[in-house]
Amino acid sequence: MYRDEFPILDTTVYGKPLIYFDNAATTQKPQAVIDALVRYYTTLNSNIHRGAHHLANVATEEYEQTREAVRQLINAEHRHEIVFTRGTTESINLVASSFCQAFLRQGDEVIVSGMEHHSNLVPWQMACERQGARLRVIPFSDDGVLDLEAYEGLFSARTRLVAVNHVSNTLGTVNPVARMARTAHSHNVPILIDGAQAISHMAVDVRALDCDFYCFSGHKMYGPMGVGVMYGKERWLDAMPPYQGGGEMIKEVTLEKTTYNELPFKFEAGTPAVGDVLGLHAAIDFMQRVGIDTIARHEAELTAYATEQMTALEGLRIYGTASQKTSVVSFLMGAAHPYDVGTLLDKMGIAVRTGHHCTQPIMDRYGIPGTVRASFALYNTKEEIDTFVAALRRIAPLLA
Ligand code: ALA
Repeated sequence: MYRDEFPILDTTVYGKPLIYFDNAATTQKPQAVIDALVRYYTTLNSNIHRGAHHLANVATEEYEQTREAVRQLINAEHRHEIVFTRGTTESINLVASSFCQAFLRQGDEVIVSGMEHHSNLVPWQMACERQGARLRVIPFSDDGVLDLEAYEGLFSARTRLVAVNHVSNTLGTVNPVARMARTAHSHNVPILIDGAQAISHMAVDVRALDCDFYCFSGHKMYGPMGVGVMYGKERWLDAMPPYQGGGEMIKEVTLEKTTYNELPFKFEAGTPAVGDVLGLHAAIDFMQRVGIDTIARHEAELTAYATEQMTALEGLRIYGTASQKTSVVSFLMGAAHPYDVGTLLDKMGIAVRTGHHCTQPIMDRYGIPGTVRASFALYNTKEEIDTFVAALRRIAPLLA
């Protein structure tokens, strides 16, 4: 689907046509996104919100139009609730730093799940260490489903925040985040959702989810690397101190004191990645042209097809078998090390990710060193899965 809009998919690797199954790490970019970057640097490059000249004005206008496009994409109430960052990691670090500075105190608690990416775990560990607070962890079952009863039991009078992913990058599980938000709010606790692995696979409506923060990256939704989004409800963003100091985030500076700019600029110190933000707009337009329902349907078909074919292979075990999951299939073959499987697949032109996928606690939970992960996007095909499964069948004896 829409393959011919992705020039990189014509690449050959070791003389074989590239089969790109590493989409959970980063998606490839359609020509429209590449064109937006070239157009920006060819015709618009200038610094925004500052200059009183034509290029700066046009670049500023297009940058702010992207903010509106993001607002509409996730149905945020206000445009100033959309803060541009470098990516999900920076978005989460922003909240972990600013929110925790304002609201986390010694003896307080933050709830995370056991299936978080390190980027939604380490910043909370660091914040807890700084403030003398502690993490509470939601366990999950063998098939990769969060234990919601245990989750409810983790709340105490000291709980200050819940941080959980919408979709696990390793297991593919879609977590019931709307329900988890209701639980958190019934204890007067806000919830942050790491949406990095959800945003390109499903419609996200932050008001329907009623989440307090929602973070995602451009590069996992067909957009450029170097741009991401931190959505936060106005009342939290207003109450949080700035994350970084610098240009653009100020109202007035004297040598003694600084007053801060209004939202969202309070959180956007320094020159942002304007070209990448405009590229993100092109990515949003692309996804809306295709339609998120069409994307989700195609990926669900691919995932069901791959799971069925792979399950039939002797000695292959899939990790992450929740009924609600996205297009991620993590697996191991017999006693083979995931790295060996990945290397052999690479020689056949098939790109997968191997290792712990920045989720070491998940690997510890299963007592394994890592997995091989195939992850599909809208441009992948059943024929590619056939080639992949045939490759697995061919390499199995080599690994025995
Ligand atoms: N978070 C990305 C992944 O899961 C890099 O591969």
